[in-house]
Amino acid sequence: MLFAERVNLIQPFRVMEVVRRAAEFEAQGTRVVHFEVGEPDFVTAQPIIEAGRQALLDGRTKYTEATGIVALREAISGHYAQLGIAIAPHRIIVTSGASGGLTLLAGLLLNPGDELLITDPGYPCNEVFAQLAGAVPKAIAVEAEKLFQPTLEAVESHWSAATRGVLFASPANPTGTMLPAQTLQQIAAFVAAENGFFILDEIYQGLTPEAAYRSGLALADDLFVLNSFSKFFGMTGWRLGWLVVPEAAVEGVTKLAQNLFIAPSTPAQYAALAAFSPAAMKVHRDRAEQFKRRATMLAHGLQQLGFKIPVQPQGAFYLYVDVSSTGLPAIEFCHRLLEEFQVAVTPGEDFGVNADQAFVRFAFTTDEASIALGLQKLQSALQRWGST
Ligand SMILES: Cc1ncc(COP(=O)(O)O)c(C=O)c1O
Repeated sequence: MLFAERVNLIQPFRVMEVVRRAAEFEAQGTRVVHFEVGEPDFVTAQPIIEAGRQALLDGRTKYTEATGIVALREAISGHYAQLGIAIAPHRIIVTSGASGGLTLLAGLLLNPGDELLITDPGYPCNEVFAQLAGAVPKAIAVEAEKLFQPTLEAVESHWSAATRGVLFASPANPTGTMLPAQTLQQIAAFVAAENGFFILDEIYQGLTPEAAYRSGLALADDLFVLNSFSKFFGMTGWRLGWLVVPEAAVEGVTKLAQNLFIAPSTPAQYAALAAFSPAAMKVHRDRAEQFKRRATMLAHGLQQLGFKIPVQPQGAFYLYVDVSSTGLPAIEFCHRLLEEFQVAVTPGEDFGVNADQAFVRFAFTTDEASIALGLQKLQSALQRWGST
């Protein structure tokens, strides 16, 4: 059987092999410390679960409007209002996770052969969304000295006649760093002057204790913003997210949503209405605080062991750690750490080719006791490998 060529372009995730091997250890009864998982370890907050249950009992099992129920779009608009940002509900499109939002934007904005600027390291799936539309992802290598974020100069120098737009994340995966406010505005102005588009992935919004800004929409109004109930709201498995699009894009994105998805999950939408209730928001904020404590604990522990963390993250739940002091390439470091000490981390290779052999991503989506155990095991590893 013949498959489309784009399938051959997709690189398998290294981390899936880590996840598989970790599961094998656990099946044998061996404890594994998980630093590889990019989703909150907490179950969804109780008020959301109850609202989801009630939605099912009330028979909320049919299609909704393609762009999401009005009440949820209004609630999301209210969420921005709380941040001092006015977004009319009709500019908000409820999607099947940020992944559904990316599919819609790829369909809306990219023609075959168009170039899309992304970052390396960056969220690995971005390039696949571009390829799905026949477009060409073009990576900007982002460096620690520049917070692992693109600069205006880098965008200018990578922009060609074929470039249509940029897709950047703030905070970013795997580095947790934010695009500085001034850079964001400069890039937005440049892209607008080129008649291009700017997609800003804000899926880690809310998990940003020291954020200089709460949403890029406070700095530039004509962004395409990707967001999700997955991370701050702890609803990964419900598959629900949203887009904020410029006024002129509402009609096009609505047509695509109708045709590609019909509607996002109905029970998930009714459940998500409760995500903004004071009771649920308290749970989310407490959890964000826990992530902050874990970040401090893990970063401190890793630095004490001699690992370099060139940039302290401003959000998300990741540390991007330079392991080159061990003398091992990152992929081997990850492999040996799992095989010999049952500590699972994600190799930099999953996020691009720029300095991938020096870096690994630690996700602190695990409790403080597990982080302490992980640090002990790392210390033992360094002793055994003669790197301390
Ligand atoms: C930067 C980034 N964007 C988008 C997504 C997709 O998330 P979801 O489809 O669960 O909303 C992820 C998931 O890890 C991510 O890290």
